[in-house]
Amino acid sequence: MNIIQCNDSKEVALISYRIFKEQLIKKPNSTLGLATGSTPILLYNELIKGSQLNEISFKKVNIFNLDEYVGLNSEHKNSYAFFMKEYLLNFIEIEDNHFHIPNGTACDLIEECHRYNNLLSSTKIDLQLLGLGENGHIGFNEPNTSFDSTTHLVELTENTRKNNSIYFKSINDIPTHAITMGISNIINATKILLLAIGENKAEAVYNLINGPIDVKFPGSILRNHPDVTIILDKEAATLINKVK
Ligand code: PGA
Repeated sequence: MNIIQCNDSKEVALISYRIFKEQLIKKPNSTLGLATGSTPILLYNELIKGSQLNEISFKKVNIFNLDEYVGLNSEHKNSYAFFMKEYLLNFIEIEDNHFHIPNGTACDLIEECHRYNNLLSSTKIDLQLLGLGENGHIGFNEPNTSFDSTTHLVELTENTRKNNSIYFKSINDIPTHAITMGISNIINATKILLLAIGENKAEAVYNLINGPIDVKFPGSILRNHPDVTIILDKEAATLINKVK
């Protein structure tokens, strides 16, 4: 694993941007795996700037998002489809049918998992972006998810729902379930870039790098992948530096 420590979240975004830029210049029709949450927002700002300056182009790119809440449609302001429009898609030139995300309002959610998984199987993600949950989740693959898992329906842990509650009016509004790419889908990507920002991620980052490779901490599987880069701000790196 390649670990890059930065001074702050702005630097995390700038270095991540360089990695995306390199990828899109090398392969303009790249397939990108993208994430939601607070971590990638500054990077998305850089991607928007970069495309407006014509440093990069999304015209031939395909995007596959990691996950979506069950019960929220793409017009719901808390859905991840809406998040992607608000923070990236509305500001870049991308073909409508090149953005893919599970449909959390599908009538048959299991069928929807199969549909999304088949789409993922028909391509190969060149660069997968990840955040990291305090409990080690990647995507919504919560602790004890099989490393062999494919796209599936998941019940969110209380910890995850609590952490995401800042985006909702009340805890009761937070969906209890989501559809997520599985760990095997994530690991299938050619290159993986994981970002972690803030002191609340320091313990998870420590476990990711030093803990056992175990389903109890889903992110630990990344240590078996041949091309993973982790970019951290100072706060997220606190514990790994203490122990050195
Ligand atoms: P965050 O979420 O970016 O909002 O911290 C990351 C995650 O839980 O995967």
